[in-house]
Amino acid sequence: MGNHGDVTSRLPSDLPAELRRIVGDRHVLEDAEVLSGFTHDWTGRVVGDTAAVVRPGSAEEVAAVLAACAQHGHAVVPQGGNTGLVAGSVAFDGAITLSTARLTAVHEVDTLSATVRAEAGAPLAAVQAAAHASGSTFGVDLAARGTATVGGMVATNAGGLHVIRHGPMREQLMGVRAARSNGDLIGALRPLAKDNTGYHWPSILCGSEGTLAVVTDVLLRLVPSAEDVAVALFAFATAHEAITAAALVRRAFADVNAIELVTDAGVALVCASLDVPPPFATPAPYLLLVEGAGTPGVVERLADVAASLEGVLDSAVAVDPEPRAALWRYREAHTESIARLGPVHKLDVTLPLSGLASFIEDVRAVVTDLRPDAAVWLFGHAGDGNVHVNVTGVAPDDEDVDRVVLELVAQRDGSISAEHGIGRAKLAYLRLNRTAAEIDAMRAVKRALDPAGILNPGVLLPAG
Ligand code: FAD
Ligand code: MLT
Ligand code: ZN
Repeated sequence: MGNHGDVTSRLPSDLPAELRRIVGDRHVLEDAEVLSGFTHDWTGRVVGDTAAVVRPGSAEEVAAVLAACAQHGHAVVPQGGNTGLVAGSVAFDGAITLSTARLTAVHEVDTLSATVRAEAGAPLAAVQAAAHASGSTFGVDLAARGTATVGGMVATNAGGLHVIRHGPMREQLMGVRAARSNGDLIGALRPLAKDNTGYHWPSILCGSEGTLAVVTDVLLRLVPSAEDVAVALFAFATAHEAITAAALVRRAFADVNAIELVTDAGVALVCASLDVPPPFATPAPYLLLVEGAGTPGVVERLADVAASLEGVLDSAVAVDPEPRAALWRYREAHTESIARLGPVHKLDVTLPLSGLASFIEDVRAVVTDLRPDAAVWLFGHAGDGNVHVNVTGVAPDDEDVDRVVLELVAQRDGSISAEHGIGRAKLAYLRLNRTAAEIDAMRAVKRALDPAGILNPGVLLPAG
């Protein structure tokens, strides 16, 4: 399959040659069939449109590609693993897709400073493997670990399964290097725990969704590996009991590593999808998965906390890796299992813990009152107040479902995006959480760093 040749380029006339000169002929892709592999959003809700995919092989090449595109005023969309869930990683209107697929190096762990340096396109699993090989652990984990890249995770400030213990991506990011659209490289990769020399690029770029600069390299903090890990699953009759238990675990269990919530419907779907038996003989409406990690004796300390939980209908505990993974599967396989049902409306929200149980109870009715045929799947990171409201059985472009859920969240002082970002999918709802003055200030930051306005237009910031 040719990358160029008889295709008529949709790029400004000088730009394709310029891009080929920077990254090499093989790394500017313009064949329509090849391009279609880069334009489908993971959720199946949107299909984009890109004129070319460009794959730089170094930070300097990223910077040069951006400078060339800026000169022609041509939009660029950075893409890592394309596992983002808010339609921010696919190009539209013929924008260039800047793929980090060639930037995959993970350097040797610096054990003295407990850090590891990686290029933006390195998959999370590769960073985790390097950390493990050196006797440490990377503090962020997600089910998309094989494909999601550290650059994409910085751009979205990814959360995941261990935020309750180690915080999101922002808290792991000691240093970052990034290319601006004027061709400058900014940031440093020095293992300095303290560095108050002005604006902090890791903080500014984390969560910027590719709108300010393209991340090229990161310096990530590592945490000590646990000697002992235990996982328990607790069954409850009501959301209120499950969330009350989650709050107690968070307060009383110093080893806590994860507190995750699933429901009977989601677990039944996962069991059918993976062909595995259910965790308990009698299905329970709500299940809480608790993971502890620490010094020897975690399972005994977990049992002490479990004894003080109220309303537990059933429980299971696992200490060895395989049974632990089997309990995790009931939670982790939700995303894939729900995706098999068709395009998913993915609404990733946080509520104050005090309002989470009533939100969980009310949100189903809000959706099904509007669309009686819709199926509502609820799961998430209960310890953080973060619930994933997934809706299937409605048209991909049915925005009313998104609107009623996100309005309910805003009315109850929640965030309309806990960990996935705004992307394109939530652009119309940013105003539910951010004032006009804040959006104006965000636009000013965007103009300062990307004066050509070519980076990810239509993502995160509504048109001014
Ligand atoms: P992409 O999808 O390629 O891009 C995401 C955004 O970042 C886009 O706006 C893109 O333009 C921008 N971007 C990508 N690379 C760069 C770069 N180098 N520089 C600047 N901008 C860039 N997310 C969570 O937070 N928690 C979870 O638990 C979680 N679990 C998941 C489980 C599954 C099965 C799946 C499919 C997704 C999950 N996600 C989760 C969502 C997703 O994995 C994260 O958002 C992840 O951070 C995206 O990484 P990526 O490399 O795939 O980025
Ligand atoms: C998760 O927690 O599993 C992820 O955020 C993915 C999803 O929301 O489906
Ligand atoms: Zn999540």
